[in-house]
Amino acid sequence: MTVYEFAKGLILEAGNNVKKIMKQDIEIETKSNPNDLVTNVDKATEKYIFDNIMKTYPNHLVIGEEGHGHDLVDEQGVVWVVDPIDGTLNFVHQKENFAISIGIYNEGKPYAGFVYDVMNDVLYHAKAGEGAYENEHPIPDIPSTPLKTSIIGINPNWLTKPRLGEIFKPIVDEARSARAYGSAALEIVYVATGKLAGYITPRLQPWDFAGGLIILNEVGGKGTNLMGDTLSIYEPSSIVMANKQLHSELISNHFEKNIEIIELLQQRLKDSD
Ligand code: IPD
Ligand code: CA
Ligand code: CA
Repeated sequence: MTVYEFAKGLILEAGNNVKKIMKQDIEIETKSNPNDLVTNVDKATEKYIFDNIMKTYPNHLVIGEEGHGHDLVDEQGVVWVVDPIDGTLNFVHQKENFAISIGIYNEGKPYAGFVYDVMNDVLYHAKAGEGAYENEHPIPDIPSTPLKTSIIGINPNWLTKPRLGEIFKPIVDEARSARAYGSAALEIVYVATGKLAGYITPRLQPWDFAGGLIILNEVGGKGTNLMGDTLSIYEPSSIVMANKQLHSELISNHFEKNIEIIELLQQRLKDSD
């Protein structure tokens, strides 16, 4: 069995377990602030994924949101980047619209990405260089769109922030419309499947984007930070994921002229990590 096949089976099993455990009482705790939640299901799912990777591939390394992985800085070898539940607020409040996300990198290069929309039983997956799939259906390359005919994904909370709001509001104004789904991993695969033309956020952790980015790259999309730099799986970053035309329009017409604010933001992300 290849690592790809193993990972595919593992994420589906983890999703089935989530569906079973969530029928019982969910225990909710807060993390960095009252709106930053974690549940027993997040923790149990990450442990399940981590334990199974270690049992089968003891030499592989894992970066996990809830602390079951290794503490990595820039290690080589095979690195799994795992978000056991992306969209925990949706999981708690809606019992849907959340995903399990796994990105696997080999010697620093993308190997495979998986985003499992558990309640809809849709697995988005891609092995680098071999195309992306929605369950067993190949995902076609995404079309190019200018901002004025694009629907973009953006969390409205960012629009109320003084300096970020100045950067993001003109983008929302110019776009055809904006949507917020509450799971970065799902929003990135929505860009890959053309439901959204782009997704923008000032801060994500590697486990939020590592799986989705590999899927998006396979269908001709592009993901960088707001300065246009390549993303690293070892640090948090600002994010713009979009079809190539929209990506380039956003960088040149919106982000480049706010480069000082964006650089400051990027530096703060590094300092707070
Ligand atoms: C969050 C979701 C959300 C995004 C946040 C993430 P979590 O992940 O992806 O959509 O806006 O930045 O932290 O905490 O639910 O795994
Ligand atoms: Ca997440
Ligand atoms: Ca999470």
